[in-house]
Amino acid sequence: MSGTGGTSTTQSEPWTILRLLQWTTEHLKKTGSPSPRLDAEVLLAEARGCQRIDLYAAFNEEPPESVKAIFRDSIKRRAAGEPVAYIVGKKEFFSLPFHVTSACLIPRGETEHVVIECLDRLKKYHRVEGAVAERSAVRVVDVCTGSGCIAITIAKESAKFNANVAVTAIDLSPDALAIAAENVRRLEVSEVVSLAEGDLLASVPDRSVDFIVSNPPYVSEAELLQLDRGVRDYEPKMALVSGPTGLEIVERLILQSADKLFPGGWLIFELSPMIAERSLELLQKDTRWRHTGLVNDLAGKKRVAIAQRAS
Ligand SMILES: C[S@@+](CC[C@H](N)C(=O)[O-])C[C@H]1O[C@@H](n2cnc3c(N)ncnc32)[C@H](O)[C@@H]1O
Repeated sequence: MSGTGGTSTTQSEPWTILRLLQWTTEHLKKTGSPSPRLDAEVLLAEARGCQRIDLYAAFNEEPPESVKAIFRDSIKRRAAGEPVAYIVGKKEFFSLPFHVTSACLIPRGETEHVVIECLDRLKKYHRVEGAVAERSAVRVVDVCTGSGCIAITIAKESAKFNANVAVTAIDLSPDALAIAAENVRRLEVSEVVSLAEGDLLASVPDRSVDFIVSNPPYVSEAELLQLDRGVRDYEPKMALVSGPTGLEIVERLILQSADKLFPGGWLIFELSPMIAERSLELLQKDTRWRHTGLVNDLAGKKRVAIAQRAS
């Protein structure tokens, strides 16, 4: 394809959608993409302004030059290692479309477990203590919110079972918060989700929260070097790296959460299998926590820690 390295195929053969996909799949395979066909389809659908499925009904069509130009540009970016989500500016999470840029982490499927564990408990939650009127909102804090995917999904999903929730989404990065604000607007949850800039839970009053959910940075400096090029070179380091051990932010999160939660409230956060047992130990050695546990992701890896604030 002209402008992307060329092919040996003759000039006269038209660049149909099928041919574009075949050529691009081979090209992205050579440049190291683990999902070259999927990438090619997503990028071509985006350039054409259609759904991926629509490409299959149009294999023999030749897109106009304007579409091919957008497609060529996005293939160059993908071949250089940029994640598809940043190129198209969106990523699906819990079947919701989230706007993303390189200012925020790309939402991952594993993080959906944090949402699921929170919703399961929200459905049957009754505040144990706290001078709060009956039927007042259940207060949820999503700390390290990034794109806002956890906070916004909890707001959307809990509305389906008529839970009255008030969600605060916190991040230290103003640029990430700007993306979260855009998602709050686009996904129409501004009455339920408010945003705050801050260092972990510093701005949250003691004994004022029912649920603390988080996907905090939990990668160690050494682990960062082992991550895929697309993650290492494009996603914000501040979203990934916690410090030399990977446990630094989780340790602070656990300590602060014990002060911020109402008795009976829940802390639910994502972690890596590398720090899972050490995180569990931190929770278990502190008598302010009960019902502590770890939840596996779909790949069978320890992915979420859960603990309830004791009375
Ligand atoms: C792993 S990302 C998670 C983003 C999003 N919740 C998700 O699951 O896709 C971690 C986020 O924590 C933020 N962050 C890092 N250190 C922080 C801190 N000390 N206090 C608050 N947020 C922090 C980063 O800016 C980043 O947006």
